[in-house]
This record gives sequence, C-alpha cells and structure tokens, in this order.
Amino acid sequence: MSIITAPQDFHVEDLFVDLGAVLDRSLYLKCEGFNFAGSVKLKAAAEMIAAAERSGRLTRDSVIVESSSGNLGIALSIIAAHKGYRFICVTDSRCNLTTRRMMESLGSQVHTITEPDADGGFLGARIAYVRDMVASDPNCLWLNQYANVNNWKAHYRRTAPAIATQFPDLDVLFVGAGTTGTLMGCARYFRDEGLPVRIVAVDSAGSVTFGGAPGPRMIPGLGTSVRPDLLVESLVDDVVYVQEADTIRACHRLARHGFLFGGSTGTVVSGARAWLDENAAGRDLISVAISPDLGERYLDTVYQENWLRDIYGEDVLAAELENAGARSND
Ligand SMILES: Cc1ncc(COP(=O)(O)O)c(C=O)c1O
Repeated sequence: MSIITAPQDFHVEDLFVDLGAVLDRSLYLKCEGFNFAGSVKLKAAAEMIAAAERSGRLTRDSVIVESSSGNLGIALSIIAAHKGYRFICVTDSRCNLTTRRMMESLGSQVHTITEPDADGGFLGARIAYVRDMVASDPNCLWLNQYANVNNWKAHYRRTAPAIATQFPDLDVLFVGAGTTGTLMGCARYFRDEGLPVRIVAVDSAGSVTFGGAPGPRMIPGLGTSVRPDLLVESLVDDVVYVQEADTIRACHRLARHGFLFGGSTGTVVSGARAWLDENAAGRDLISVAISPDLGERYLDTVYQENWLRDIYGEDVLAAELENAGARSND
C-alpha cells in the first residue's frame, strides 16, 4: 500500500513492458506515465522545486515561470498547487487543449506563443518570452529545465538506479532526448557506477540537439530547435533519428496490442527497433527503453485519423493496418 499526502511523492519505478511479442525484438519499456502528472517530468519538477527551496531562491512571494511543451507544465502545476506557489507556464500552439486545461484546472496561468522566432523555432520564442518576464519582474523565478542540473539529477537519483536494479546485466539503454535531462541523468549514473551500458539517444528528425538541421516537428516532447545546455555529447554512445511518420506507426502498433502510449514513446520504440536491427542482429542483447508518458493526451493528434492524414498523408498507417489485418486473420 502507498499512502501519500503530496502528489509528487508517488512514483512507479518498477513497471516494465516486455515488447518482445509486439516488435519481434527483445526490448523492455520502462513506463513513466503512472503518476499524478502522467509523465516522467514529475521527477524533474519535484527535484528542481526542492533545490530552489533549499537555496532560498524560491519563496512565498515567488512566481515560478517555465517554458514547457506541456508535461513539465502539468508536473509543476501539481506541485505548485500542492505547495501554494503561483506558476505561469509558457507554452506554444502545439500544446494540446487537454494539457492546457489541466494546468488551468490546477490553478496555473498558461501563456501560449503562437509565432515561432526568426529561426523558425517555437522553443526560442518561448524562452525569449520567459526571459522578458524574468527581466521585468524580480519575483519571477525561471527554473530553466534546459540548463537546471536538478533536471538530470532527478533521473540520476531515481530513474537510472531503478533500471539498474531490475536489469543488472543491461546492455543497451534507449532514451529520448528533449531537454536531455532523462538522458544525461541515466548516462551519468551508468558511467559513474562503472556499468558497461551503451547509451543510445533517440531524437526526432528535424531536431538540432545533436547538430542536425532544423525541420518541422509536430509531436511534442522530444527534439529541440535550440541545443539544450544540459547535453554532454561525450556521454552518449549513439544517436538515432526517427521520422515522425515512423513515430506514428510505432504508436499505432503498440495501441493495436493494447498499449496506448504518448508520441515520444513511439519515437523511442521506433528508434530502438531500428538500432537493434542494425547493431544487434543475431545477438541477444538486454535492452531497455524509457516511455515518458501515456497516450490519452494525444487522442486529437497521434491517434486522430484526420490529423494524421493532413500532416503525414493518406498512407502513413497503411503497413500497420495490413499487419493488424494479418494478425486478426491468424
Ligand atoms: C512526452 C515527453 N517525452 C519526452 C520528453 C523528454 O524528456 P527530457 O526533457 O528529460 O529529455 C519530454 C519532456 O518534456 C516529454 O514531455
């Protein structure tokens, strides 16, 4: 039994889905969506707030501000509501309505950026807006998830040890890269523990995080249009890029097996599968991938036929539907 008083005190660290039958490859998926914020970001939010309190930077008069595509915003809204802080989330037009409504229901203020910056990215425009807020109001406290070391420390303290406990002989870990907090926390942990785990970052095509050319991306969570300060590339063994159409196909494949995951999980699973095909043929590697959230927040996008058709074309799911048809005829 778990009895809690603070919503950020409940975490599930020992849930892994065996995707062997779904992918025809050996891969275990660590599920981070089962907490009150519904995502991996609850740990980073709790760690960043606790550190700001300890340092004295966060006081009763503070207004917490943060740029978020949604999940960190929900996590911060939950903790701010519980602790009685004001919170303003700066997001952009790709943030879905349910996420925005959740933050507002928790008492947060949401500011939505509708125009990208001169380089075509929304992230730069969001950060510029946050910087202006902080410059004009001394009570505003920007946690800055892109540069805050407590973001990666949350995963160093919790996520990575939980994986190491369940998989002491782990060979490969696949981690999606957004702020790179999850990636850096896990990479640093396995390096410091002297565990020979290959760390494979999974990024969206069109993301600049690892030096790629910027391009349009519709699925929030992974990828950046501004390189995150937290990233130390030497801690990463490999990077896999995933096209969004492949993300969609992976999400729908998982859903057809009863697992409704968020968009970034589709990206990580698709990238892991491609990497295993290229690097693990004929070898029995122990592999884990991290799933940042569940699928309910994406019903109007990743799981919505018209949205998919408009953005990725008629045929995006053709192969998956054929597969599903073949399974139902089995
Ligand atoms: C759905 C989703 N996936 C992946 C990530 C990336 O995690 P990180 O910021 O730790 O790189 C995020 C971060 O917000 C997210 O919301």
